[in-house]
Amino acid sequence: MLANKNSKHGNGNETIDYGWCKLKPVISAEQIKIRTEEIGAEISAKYGDNTGGIVVVGLLDGCFLYMADLIRQLHIKEGVYTAFVKVSSYKGTTRTSNLKVVRDLENDIVEGKTVLLVDDILDTGYTMEALTNYIYAKGAKEIITTVALDKQCCREAQIKVDYAGFVVDDFFVDDFFVVGYGLDYKSMFRELGGVYELVDLNEKII
Ligand code: IMP
Ligand code: MG
Repeated sequence: MLANKNSKHGNGNETIDYGWCKLKPVISAEQIKIRTEEIGAEISAKYGDNTGGIVVVGLLDGCFLYMADLIRQLHIKEGVYTAFVKVSSYKGTTRTSNLKVVRDLENDIVEGKTVLLVDDILDTGYTMEALTNYIYAKGAKEIITTVALDKQCCREAQIKVDYAGFVVDDFFVDDFFVVGYGLDYKSMFRELGGVYELVDLNEKII
């Protein structure tokens, strides 16, 4: 049963049954809102007077909900610039040369600037590590990183996230796959305001 007649649909408070899978609530939209405000305040306190402002670089596609919420919490005197980058997904390498940039940053936008790199979730960390190297090579002065969710259990790359919304491992004992708040399964569920565990999956035939 699709519960979208309910105005609270997707806020991460109730299980949603799609027939071919179920979504079990993990983090509610309310919890995310509170945490995003905290992170925005921390970043604003530290970088509010930053020379040249901050360039917020979102990693497409997963960043868009978290980035939209976070940038509205930033108070940076010299301004917030926004930019997006999209890379093709790849696993198992830390070499920047293997990073395939599908949508590149505008020329010079990060040069000499403090960059806030935003993604939905940090898993192995290879994407964020390679992108950090890539953005430094484009002349960024400093890069700070933030993700809505940190999957610490799965880290392989040498990357430290500066501002993590939630350490999502804390909610699970075994393996898990989460969706919602920008996170997708086959491009679905990004629109949900809460974070859910994807369970009882019987492949959808489209
Ligand atoms: P990594 O850190 O390079 O392994 O890649 C992180 C990317 O993997 C994220 O941006 C997501 O697109 C994807 N990802 C990892 N774990 C999950 C999950 O539990 N749900 C949805 N996407 C995930
Ligand atoms: Mg992603």
